[in-house]
Amino acid sequence: PAKYLLIDDIVSKHKNMEGSLLPILHDIQFEFGCVEDETKRYLANVLNLTRAEIQGIVSFYHDFANAPSPLPIIKLCGAEACQARGYRKLRDEIGVVANGRCQIETVYCLGLCSAGPSAMIGSDVHAQLNTEKLRHLIEAL
Ligand code: FES
Repeated sequence: PAKYLLIDDIVSKHKNMEGSLLPILHDIQFEFGCVEDETKRYLANVLNLTRAEIQGIVSFYHDFANAPSPLPIIKLCGAEACQARGYRKLRDEIGVVANGRCQIETVYCLGLCSAGPSAMIGSDVHAQLNTEKLRHLIEAL
């Protein structure tokens, strides 16, 4: 299935670096919104690790979900340029689960660094955000 091709791409991008499991899991979380059991099994196989090792990392960091969120996800950029332009304030003001309407996740760079803070909702990228603009976007979900 296409899912496994994408996982293979992610694995081959990182596998030669030390401590590759964490960036692999982050990319999987970013692409699929979670690291499902079936993905953990597949990763254990291709990385020659035990499922327990993978499960240990997934459950240690709260960046990773076991199942897709039932809420729409807003990927808010927390990389350097967006941090300098108010990412933290925006994130604090909006909260992790904004009014129970969506889930806010932090991602690292959406390619709009000079116009941050930026966020991605579905496949749309929004720049020059402030709390009010982001609230409007959330209300429109
Ligand atoms: Fe946020 Fe690049 S740092 S878009």
